[in-house]
Amino acid sequence: MLLNVKSTFISLFLISLLCTFYGVNAIAVSKIKGLKERDDKSDLCSGFKFDNPPSGLKGPILKRNNTEFTARWSTESGSKLNLVLDFELFSNETDGKLVTTLWDKGADIKDNKASATFSMYAPEGITLPATFFARSWASSPSGPNCFIVSGDFTIIKDL
Ligand SMILES: *[C@@H]1O[C@H](CO)[C@@H](O)[C@H](O)[C@H]1NC(C)=O
Ligand SMILES: *[C@@H]1O[C@H](CO)[C@@H](O)[C@H](O)[C@H]1NC(C)=O
Repeated sequence: MLLNVKSTFISLFLISLLCTFYGVNAIAVSKIKGLKERDDKSDLCSGFKFDNPPSGLKGPILKRNNTEFTARWSTESGSKLNLVLDFELFSNETDGKLVTTLWDKGADIKDNKASATFSMYAPEGITLPATFFARSWASSPSGPNCFIVSGDFTIIKDL
């Protein structure tokens, strides 16, 4: 009897471990854009957005491969975020995956604005035109970080 209870407990424990594992996995592969909406509701990220590329879908945005690009971000007054950390390029395919980090030098958020200029390119091997979105992380002095994603944009071939 005791043995049965024990083994039941152990199986339940194993099942819950499996659930935890699959749960975490599901979060890892769930669409980044879905995660963004959840993050937006947190106080920390609130008001943090991309100004360029724009956050909302505003029709097709075309960028020529390997051209200079200025990313712009803004926050709302009262935001605790003080540093934008990076600009990551994601493929817009299902479960959008990280393609590369185009910039990670960090830009101070001053008067609720930050910007960074770098080369916008899709790594060799990607068939252009291809559609992407960007993700940027920002941090606050007390530690917590949060991220946002941009609207889609398309990188086209150099001429
Ligand atoms: C990716 O972008 C292309 C071009 O805009 C679009 O046709 C396609 O539906 C997008 N895919 C996803 C998963 O959003
Ligand atoms: C985009 O430009 C970069 C820099 O010139 C180049 O290395 C890369 O192969 C180009 N990407 C594509 C997909 O052609």
